Amino acid sequence: MYNGLEMTNCRSFGLLLAALILLSGCRTGKVADRSASTDAGQYTATDPQSVVQGETIYTQHCAVCHGVSLEGEADWKLQNPDGSFRAPPHDAEGHTWHHDDAQLIEAIKRGGERLPPDIGGTSNMPAYEDVLSEDEITAVLDYIKSL
Ligand code: HEC
Repeated sequence: MYNGLEMTNCRSFGLLLAALILLSGCRTGKVADRSASTDAGQYTATDPQSVVQGETIYTQHCAVCHGVSLEGEADWKLQNPDGSFRAPPHDAEGHTWHHDDAQLIEAIKRGGERLPPDIGGTSNMPAYEDVLSEDEITAVLDYIKSL
């Protein structure tokens, strides 16, 4: 009887320990990602798995315009001869981080069609609403923010 009790205590202590380790793991994740935080202070906690998934999605869908290293198109501040905007970098060079999450998600979901007609140019940024799930869009943002 006594021994049995000891065992249970021991096991629940083990569980508690595991939970603590998990918790502190999450914490360090957040702290480590603080560098990705921005002026806008919009940073949401990043799940490392989401970042990995986001990288795959970025490479498949976004790198062709925004650059493999998120560098954007050359002379991205200029417009193309047809009046369309060039893809901005998503690194510190760009202005992506002056927008909050909601705006970035909107940009990814609706692409160029979200821009008002009087903005002075057009955008070939595709709409990903029907291509990527909410989770995938969050993952891409997590990836971009992790860099
Ligand atoms: C065909 C080229 C192209 C592809 C592919 C593309 N984009 Fe874009 N993207 C653009 C252009 C051009 C702009 C600038 C005009 C605009 O804001 O629509 C832009 C703007 C954005 C913005 C707004 C940035 C800001 O600072 O205002 C975000 C966010 C963005 N893209 C994310 C993505 C993500 C994520 C993907 C992949 C899922 C992607 N884009 C794929 C061309 C592209």
